[in-house]
Amino acid sequence: MRVLSGIQPSGKLHLGNYFGAMQQYLELQSKGNDCYYFIANYHALTTVNDRKTLEDYTREIAIGYLAVGIDPTKSVFFRHSDVPEVCELAWIFSCITPMGLLERCVSYKDKVAQGISANHGLFAYPVLQAADIIIYQSNLVPVGQDQKQHLEVTRDIAIKFNNIFGEDLLVVPEPYIISDVAVVPGLDGQKMSKSYDNTIELFTPKNQTKKKIMRIETDSTPMEDPKDPDTCRVFALIKLLATKEEQNNWRDRYTQGGMGYGDVKKRLVELVNELLDPFRDKFAELEKDPDTVEDILREGGKKARTTAQETMEIVRKATGIMTNY
Ligand code: ADP
Ligand code: TRP
Repeated sequence: MRVLSGIQPSGKLHLGNYFGAMQQYLELQSKGNDCYYFIANYHALTTVNDRKTLEDYTREIAIGYLAVGIDPTKSVFFRHSDVPEVCELAWIFSCITPMGLLERCVSYKDKVAQGISANHGLFAYPVLQAADIIIYQSNLVPVGQDQKQHLEVTRDIAIKFNNIFGEDLLVVPEPYIISDVAVVPGLDGQKMSKSYDNTIELFTPKNQTKKKIMRIETDSTPMEDPKDPDTCRVFALIKLLATKEEQNNWRDRYTQGGMGYGDVKKRLVELVNELLDPFRDKFAELEKDPDTVEDILREGGKKARTTAQETMEIVRKATGIMTNY
């Protein structure tokens, strides 16, 4: 089964990304699938218009995914821009994509509502995403709920292409919606997201993580009084990281009274560190060795490009686009 997913290098990785995406990628990798994971830097360019920022994010995502466990001997791990054919396919798809299909996409509307400038790349984003997926003849695409509509657009484009140019030329992919993972709450109780500045980042120094956790807002119930775990932002994060048994112990301590929020925050700091320390160590190791990271991306890019070129031969032939290479 060919599995493919893209990760936008448009911010720093956080616990929401880990529980809501990275863990599932690793699980699919461990089950012996033919996984392709790539850093979607062409997509990030729709919102990041600063050279250094885009380069830094791209590097951090590459090292971050490797540190957390993407294994280049098992998965093809690469950069979007190492397969330029994907832009060619996006253009070909643009020519068969009805405007109405893109006009209905809520992600575009949401981004514009957030104040991001309405450039053509942002509008055409789902077409490039369809090319990303279809160029590798992918069967399964693990994505968060927010990407469901883009997957529907991808399927519509693949079906339309096959209807116009020849049945079964392109694989129509299936989404694999990562929905069993509840939305990871941020430090302010909203969905953890880089846009809300409420994240616990995977790779910032430990003392900063501690400071952020110790500053989580809690209510002013006096120490002796019972407290409600289900409305507490700290407990929401404990639930993500602690064993069931420990969660129940904390629940009892909340409801019995006599527990200070400082205690549970300190435990949260420990739990976050237990999870992140091995990733941070690996990250630091890889950061010192940029050549190895670049070699991994280059090798991944080569493999991905070979697959992409096979699809492009089929596509060019079917559409009548002639080339001399
Ligand atoms: P952000 O909201 O910080 O911009 P992205 O949209 O870049 O995050 O996230 C990439 C993927 O990470 C999403 O498609 C989703 O699968 C996952 N993800 C991000 N934040 C969360 C969260 N708070 N809870 C669960 N999953 C999340
Ligand atoms: N749009 C996806 C996101 O924001 C990233 C992405 C780009 C992607 N191309 C893809 C995901 C192809 C899956 C398949 O999360």
